[in-house]
Amino acid sequence: MKPKSTLATTLRYAVVTYLSASVFFTVHHFFVQYQDAQPLPPVRPKTMTEPGQGTFDVENIIYSQQIMTWKTPQGHPEHEIEEDAVLHKIFTNTMQPSKVLPYYLKAIRDFDPESVTITTLITFDRYLIFSKLVTNYQGPISVSIHITDDENRDENLSNLHDMYNSNPYMREFVDVHVIVDKFDRQFNMWRNVARFFARSNYFMMLDVDFHICTNLQRHLSLDARAREVMRSGAAVVLPAFEYVDQDDGIDSTTFPKNKEALIRLVEEHKITTFHDFFPKGHNSTDYERWYATDSVYKVTAYQHSYEPYAIMRKEGTPWCDERFIGYGANKAACLFEIYISGVDYWVLPQDFVIHQSHPYKEETRKQERKYNRKLYQNFQEEACFRYSQHFLQANLWDDPKAENLKEQCSKIRGFNKVMERFASPELAEQE
Ligand SMILES: *[C@@H]1O[C@H](CO)[C@@H](O)[C@H](O)[C@H]1NC(C)=O
Ligand SMILES: *[C@@H]1O[C@H](CO)[C@@H](O)[C@H](O)[C@H]1NC(C)=O
Repeated sequence: MKPKSTLATTLRYAVVTYLSASVFFTVHHFFVQYQDAQPLPPVRPKTMTEPGQGTFDVENIIYSQQIMTWKTPQGHPEHEIEEDAVLHKIFTNTMQPSKVLPYYLKAIRDFDPESVTITTLITFDRYLIFSKLVTNYQGPISVSIHITDDENRDENLSNLHDMYNSNPYMREFVDVHVIVDKFDRQFNMWRNVARFFARSNYFMMLDVDFHICTNLQRHLSLDARAREVMRSGAAVVLPAFEYVDQDDGIDSTTFPKNKEALIRLVEEHKITTFHDFFPKGHNSTDYERWYATDSVYKVTAYQHSYEPYAIMRKEGTPWCDERFIGYGANKAACLFEIYISGVDYWVLPQDFVIHQSHPYKEETRKQERKYNRKLYQNFQEEACFRYSQHFLQANLWDDPKAENLKEQCSKIRGFNKVMERFASPELAEQE
């Protein structure tokens, strides 16, 4: 009798085990299905091992269909558009298909609307230096990261989570926006993504390898004149420097922390203006004047190669033209359009940035630079006529805001002559 009852018990156990297992797997299956249907599942890195969190499902996150709801006049049903369609239109000049994932990782803090959000883009080889920037700034940062849509995609996303988790200040201050597509070096689009989703009224387009040496936020809060300039819609520049001996530029903890210390190093020829082999990139800042001043001043010698690091107002400042792809001219083109639209550049008296040394990869850059230089010439001409139309038709041709345009665009052959005709239709009719 005994053996039989043992057998019966074993069988019963087996049945019960089978049943619970299948219930478990069915429930699990539905749960996973259900999770898949959620518009935004909690994002977890693959490497995160807390119980119950499992691994994240990249397909689901990347191709989730969020709906944007548009308010309508009272009594009418709200209108819904897929987020993908909205983003496609926002970034309409970029190569498609491209999937933008806004706030893929979002900081827990709310930011003062008057604060300055650093907007930047990072690549995998810049994670460490980015982490230093975050620790140093301790203010809002909006960063774009491009992930190539290939077999490494999930691994790269996972690395991104590791980076985010590696520094507690990330969670406090950094919003990460991910762009997943097959197109590399769409720098101006990536810049626009970081700016578009920035959560304060001002942004600074900064290259990630630049170190902000001073307490920028404090200086801005104390400098009423600078704030007034910013509020008026002008851009304020932080002069850029680099070490003469690249080895001195590796460890930002040794960098000067105020203007006096910096000037001493400049006088000792240890530090020089950034890329002084190409003066036009930064010399409109007028470094000699900067060394001597303690108040904000206006840039009076702008030219189209000027590429300063500047804080600008988020609303009303033109966007970076996304048709520029690859190295060369992309930022200059952006800053040119901003300038001729009527935004003046001013220079902050106390604050500055220093470049942190790292080896450059130059192979791809040369050809692209050459070609983009050519495109930039055409772009200037096109932008000049576009903004001229704007000023004329808005009856702002004689407004001070049109001064920058007149000064820059009159360098283009034939421009003044055509504008005379536009500005006085009687002349045009006589022809
Ligand atoms: C992704 O990961 C691969 C392999 O680790 C790496 O070679 C590649 O540069 C990464 N970058 C992007 C943008 O996907
Ligand atoms: C900047 O450098 C260029 C090229 O050397 C020079 O022609 C120009 O006058 C300089 N501008 C200023 C404001 O120093």
